Amino acid sequence: MSNRLLWKIGFIAVCLLIPASAPSQETSVQLPPGYSGSQTCKPCHPSISNNFLRTAHFKSLSDDKLKFEQKGCESCHGPGKAHIAAKGGKTNIVAFSQMQPKQALDACLACHSQQLGRANIRRSSHTTSDVVCTNCHSMHKAATPQKLLVKLQTDLCYGCHTNVRAQFSMPVKHRVNEGFMQCSDCHNPHGGDASVTKMAARPRMMAQGLQNEEPCLKCHVDKRGPFVFEHAAVKVDGCGGCHVPHGGMNARLLKRPQVFTMCLECHNGLGNFGRQGDGIQLTPSSHSLTDPKYQNCSLCHTRIHGSNSNSRFLR
Ligand code: HEC
Ligand code: HEC
Ligand code: HEC
Ligand code: HEC
Ligand code: HEC
Ligand code: HEC
Ligand code: HEC
Ligand code: HEC
Ligand code: HEC
Ligand code: HEC
Repeated sequence: MSNRLLWKIGFIAVCLLIPASAPSQETSVQLPPGYSGSQTCKPCHPSISNNFLRTAHFKSLSDDKLKFEQKGCESCHGPGKAHIAAKGGKTNIVAFSQMQPKQALDACLACHSQQLGRANIRRSSHTTSDVVCTNCHSMHKAATPQKLLVKLQTDLCYGCHTNVRAQFSMPVKHRVNEGFMQCSDCHNPHGGDASVTKMAARPRMMAQGLQNEEPCLKCHVDKRGPFVFEHAAVKVDGCGGCHVPHGGMNARLLKRPQVFTMCLECHNGLGNFGRQGDGIQLTPSSHSLTDPKYQNCSLCHTRIHGSNSNSRFLR
């Protein structure tokens, strides 16, 4: 076993034995002016201090790459000496209760901008509507020890998006209310990159699968392709061209109750699309739309998401 590993095990053992006095290495260094160290907060804020050891931010205390100013309580609340000398107060310390949303955002992004930068947090619909970190995360009274959420995720999102709860209660739906999946399987609450489908329009803070593709393909891998014969509708418009994502009245989460009405939205012969720029193929004359047999198009066009053997998606 390497020395480093032994040292780590030793450190963990010490932490387990005396959890309350863990930030020991803080006191051994020279304090920057105005700072007093996390230990000095404990007498007056005992429950917050004890609980802190169970949150992810506790890790900052043992990260040797961080400067003292980036560790423990004072990493977020700033130097605490004056606050302690005054035996409390809200103006002599960085107090989140006194902050505008933008200030809270900046305070958190001081450390998290690298990780969340990829998600375009600053121009997400949440940020531009003044919904910031502290609306969703609680540093000291989190309901979930992981991710430090104010409430369980689904309750958190429904708290503001009540209409979405109704959508997930429809007869056909993804089972979010039943706990099989979460909003964050499809959405990135921190904002998403422009999507590769729908001409990059309206990303709706979508999460991404591999290579920037729709999140749906993380689970529905059989729809990913590439297929020898692609259905352009799937590749260009994306899944939302034919499906509603949350829930609805129609089988298979389809946008329309009758399959053929959906197909005919595109296969109606209007111009500007299709291989010759003369419209997407009409249904052939062999297809009698008054015959009920022809109304369920996917009865014959079974490989509607793309096929490796038939250009008309018949098998
Ligand atoms: C990661 C940033 C961060 C760290 C580290 C942090 N806090 Fe906080 N603190 C906050 C935020 C944000 C709030 C506002 C309430 C909330 O989100 O939970 C807060 C609120 C408080 C409050 C007001 C509590 C209330 O209920 O009104 C006190 C007191 C406090 N923190 C003390 C501490 C102490 C003591 C430590 C170290 C053990 C600490 N904080 C570490 C971010 C932090
Ligand atoms: C001598 C006791 C004492 C010590 C030590 C102390 N505090 Fe406080 N702190 C208080 C009191 C009392 C309040 C309530 C002030 C009020 O409500 O006006 C308070 C309030 C706060 C708040 C409230 C912010 C808000 O949003 O309302 C924060 C943050 C805070 N303390 C952080 C710290 C940190 C960090 C330390 C350690 C560096 C610390 N305190 C050490 C007594 C103390
Ligand atoms: C001084 C730097 C610093 C600041 C400021 C800071 N954080 Fe963190 N944060 C960290 C570190 C370090 C971790 C642990 C990273 C890890 O787990 O690898 C972390 C982890 C987290 C986690 C992840 C928890 C998990 O279970 O994965 C959340 C959520 C979080 N921070 C939210 C916030 C919020 C909200 C704020 C502003 C109130 C904030 N942070 C301010 C350094 C910081
Ligand atoms: C609209 C609610 C919401 C807002 C606003 C929000 N978060 Fe989150 N955050 C979440 C949820 C939900 C998760 C958990 C996602 C999961 O479980 O995959 C999360 C996860 C995280 C994580 C863990 C790593 C990760 O990416 O999953 C960090 C760190 C984090 N948030 C920091 C922040 C910071 C910093 C801010 C403000 C700049 C912020 N969050 C704003 C809801 C939010
Ligand atoms: C504090 C209230 C609040 C919370 C909590 C919240 N949101 Fe939002 N959300 C908003 C507001 C405000 C908007 C912007 C206005 C709108 O489009 O309704 C928004 C917009 C959105 C959008 C639409 C984006 C767009 O570009 O149109 C999505 C998707 C979304 N939120 C998902 C989530 C998810 C997932 C969660 C839980 C992790 C969540 N929200 C938590 C308030 C909230
Ligand atoms: C199966 C993937 C998936 C899941 C799970 C999911 N969403 Fe969505 N959501 C989408 C897609 C795709 C859109 C974009 C629809 C469009 O293009 O208008 C969307 C749109 C939205 C919108 C903006 C449009 C509107 O109807 O107001 C909000 C808000 C939203 N989702 C919130 C949520 C919340 C809250 C949850 C969790 C309770 C959630 N979503 C779970 C895929 C999902
Ligand atoms: C986290 C995994 C996951 C993601 C992401 C996901 N789905 Fe699903 N989806 C499922 C599961 C599991 C089912 C099976 C039905 C159930 O849960 O009852 C399903 C069912 C479906 C069905 C069939 C419904 C039925 O009645 O048979 C459609 C259509 C569908 N999903 C489309 C989508 C679309 C479109 C997206 C992206 C917006 C998406 N899914 C994202 C897991 C996922
Ligand atoms: C051109 C319209 C169209 C597009 C675009 C489309 N689908 Fe479908 N999808 C259908 C039809 C029609 C059915 C019903 C087939 C049937 O009757 O069995 C279906 C059924 C499904 C089913 C349930 C049955 C099965 O085959 O597993 C899933 C899951 C599904 N689609 C996922 C997706 C995903 C993921 C995407 C995006 C990559 C997508 N769909 C894009 C038309 C479409
Ligand atoms: C969002 C528009 C859209 C929808 C909805 C749509 N399609 Fe298509 N479809 C296309 C486009 C675009 C092509 C490719 C045209 C081209 O390559 O010239 C295509 C090609 C096809 C082809 C292959 C034609 C050929 O000869 O290569 C068939 C078969 C087909 N679609 C059937 C359907 C059926 C059945 C539905 C309903 C379940 C449907 N489509 C829904 C846009 C759509
Ligand atoms: C009974 C089976 C069956 C049903 C139901 C059916 N099709 Fe077809 N479809 C076929 C066959 C077989 C072909 C290829 C032979 C042909 O051209 O007649 C075809 C070809 C097509 C083509 C390609 C035409 C071309 O010029 O390349 C399109 C587009 C199409 N169907 C759309 C639809 C639409 C939309 C529906 C629903 C209204 C539908 N089909 C229902 C069997 C069916």
